[in-house]
Amino acid sequence: MRMSMRGVVAAAACMCAGVALQAASVTPVKDAKALKYSPMIFGHFIEHFDTQVYGGLFWPKHPLSDEDGFRKDVIEALREIKCPIVRWPGGCYVSDYHWKCGVGPNRQPMWNKAWAVEDPNTFGTDEYVKWCRKVGCEPYICTNAGTGTDEEMSDWVEYCNLSVGKWARQRIANGYEKPHDVIYWSVGNENWGGHEIGAKTVEQWGPLVRESAKMMRGADRKIKLLAAALPAESWTLPLLKAAGRLLDYVSVHGYYVWGKGDTPYLECMMRTERPEADIQRTINTLTKAGFGGGRIAIAFDEWNLRGWYHPGLGNFKRGAVMDYEARRQNDVASYYTMADALFSACFLNTCLRHCDIVKMANFSPVVNTRGAVFVHDKGIVKRTTFHVFWMYTHLLEANISPVKVDCEALTNGKARVPVLDAVLTVSNDGRRRVLAVVNKSPDKSVSLDVGALGVKSGSLKATVLAGASPNDFNDIGAENRVVPVKTAYEAKDGKVELPAHSLSCIVIAE
Ligand code: AHR
Repeated sequence: MRMSMRGVVAAAACMCAGVALQAASVTPVKDAKALKYSPMIFGHFIEHFDTQVYGGLFWPKHPLSDEDGFRKDVIEALREIKCPIVRWPGGCYVSDYHWKCGVGPNRQPMWNKAWAVEDPNTFGTDEYVKWCRKVGCEPYICTNAGTGTDEEMSDWVEYCNLSVGKWARQRIANGYEKPHDVIYWSVGNENWGGHEIGAKTVEQWGPLVRESAKMMRGADRKIKLLAAALPAESWTLPLLKAAGRLLDYVSVHGYYVWGKGDTPYLECMMRTERPEADIQRTINTLTKAGFGGGRIAIAFDEWNLRGWYHPGLGNFKRGAVMDYEARRQNDVASYYTMADALFSACFLNTCLRHCDIVKMANFSPVVNTRGAVFVHDKGIVKRTTFHVFWMYTHLLEANISPVKVDCEALTNGKARVPVLDAVLTVSNDGRRRVLAVVNKSPDKSVSLDVGALGVKSGSLKATVLAGASPNDFNDIGAENRVVPVKTAYEAKDGKVELPAHSLSCIVIAE
């Protein structure tokens, strides 16, 4: 982790700048057991959209790329945040993607109907799996359930995972003797939506998933299967009735503000409880279908505070135009502030609190557009969200110990949310405990009483991400403006002071 003096000074300054101090407390939930969480919730997503793949992680002949054309700085950055899994190739892109055009020596460029661009198909299945192995993450392939067929999906499993049969032999002929062993597969992407190429009706969806799943599992019984779903019962109950016994996860997505990317900090904070509502609705639907209690898990396999900006997607009306220029807005550095970091920490906290059922989540996307890493000709910028992933994958312990947080509300005059969001993590032997806590207030520090966790007075090791203002961001030439800072919180009578607009990981006991 990079620490800059500037970061230290900024964090110190904002700790003093807290206007009035609010009071809050965190207490353990009596008799609640600690639960192990799945590190797959720290996963990511990459789509063939704009510069995410070409001109992003895949940049052949670039001085910063390796012999396979993969940007080495990107690989290194993703290793740094222990990226566990990356979903690919879409997204909306996948609903008319034909994987067979993207393998072997004769790549066939394809027009993509969702994004209205030609894809050269030089980054296909073999390149993707190779890239994942270099990153050290699991591949997770999302199949084409728009214009694709169930057999095309199971051929893909054969190509990746078998040693015999027509498609496995083609992989071997393409130079990949050993199977790729792709464990995670999903049937479709958002096939419930009118924006999606080859969208399906609710009546079509369950049987299509069932037949695809049968064939995919027929190719390899050890795969883990997901299917495009919604929190809503109207879509997901019929899906689960038809295909639930064949599925390991349901795939749901969440983006919480829309537009170019300039939604103000406080508006963003007002959205921090929406993922909880989405998860709760999905749990209710799973339970009603008889798959509650984790029998089918939730994969939040696309999520981000900010929806991608691409006016024109899904608009096929007469006279409609695709606004390519608008896509450039996704790359404006100043949009990715402490709002993004703190929303992301709250999102991950929500998944952690539901760790018995939320077993995967994929930040959308991993590079460029709204990603945690911005790639440019001369290097990369680690956006504020990157550092949240670093803190969670390096500083937290492996289990969640339920806690209750009492705090004031933060309001924008219309909506209200709790000013704090905290989770307590605990090591396997129960000794080491680390609290991850977000203070959403743009200008007030919070006095947090952690006495009930056993803290009295003294110095607690802490790492804090705060920036100098809620709107601080990293950029080319200012790469380390917002970085985590190692510090110490002085506990007095069991109370510590949390700086405004901050994420803190505090070692409560070791
Ligand atoms: O805006 C990006 C798109 O969002 C993804 O392609 C799709 O899955 C979701 O609707």
